[in-house]
Amino acid sequence: MYAGIKPHDDKPVTVSRLHRMKSEGEAIACLTAYDYTFSAVADAAGVDVVLIGDSLGMVMQGRDTTIPVTVDDIVYHTRCVTAGRRRALVMADMPFMSYTNADEAMRNAGRLMKEGGAHMVKLEGAGDQASLVRALSSAGVPVCAHLGLQPQLVHKIGGYRVQGKDTAGASQMLQDAQKLQEAGADMLLVECIPASLGGALASRLDIPVIGIGAGPSCDGQILVLQDMLGITPGKTPKFSKDFMGEAESVPAAVQAYVRAVKRGQFPAEEHCF
Ligand code: KIV
Repeated sequence: MYAGIKPHDDKPVTVSRLHRMKSEGEAIACLTAYDYTFSAVADAAGVDVVLIGDSLGMVMQGRDTTIPVTVDDIVYHTRCVTAGRRRALVMADMPFMSYTNADEAMRNAGRLMKEGGAHMVKLEGAGDQASLVRALSSAGVPVCAHLGLQPQLVHKIGGYRVQGKDTAGASQMLQDAQKLQEAGADMLLVECIPASLGGALASRLDIPVIGIGAGPSCDGQILVLQDMLGITPGKTPKFSKDFMGEAESVPAAVQAYVRAVKRGQFPAEEHCF
């Protein structure tokens, strides 16, 4: 379909396919979606992973943070997204306080998969989440760990800031990532970290590393849909790009995003820390 990159086929994207993409050097294009229509648009454009992020609290519900989002909210939106998807892997966020212990994490991950139809769940947290990841993984739940800026910790860390900037922070993140991989995480998402650290994580880990504000050397990229369409009210984050600026339609903008990720043209230097 696009010059210079593999055309996407109709075969469903699975965890093992994502791992194969990493080993073959094919960039993984991920995007959030929260409803049927945008899910279908993303899927048709060749997005490999659609995330029902708890960012829905902000972009769908108009809240200040992701904290108020409930498991019911994520189940509802995951159901809408799975209705529109044919090929992409569907990943759903575990909301704040829905995984404070293994029993709760199992129960809620089970809901996202059984009621929502998610193929993978994502949870924020450092190396101390390894036991939860191990429990979920042993129960057959594909898990994506989320390191770097963790928006669910906004009140604890006092804002949305770049993480892992100093040597100690970077080396802690590398250790945490290794622990989470050993515990059975199938993928890692890293948010707002220096590009050099994104590259180090991608080269040291066997699992795919997906970045948002984490530089071009990650194995894949993700953006919040409203940010990449340039319609988020207020300030757009530095790491995002408005793909609608040069596109004639929403599907064309999403295709342009996928193409830019696959060709290694996004993120550019101005989107990095
Ligand atoms: O909730 C979300 O949308 C996320 C982003 C990092 C993509 O987790």
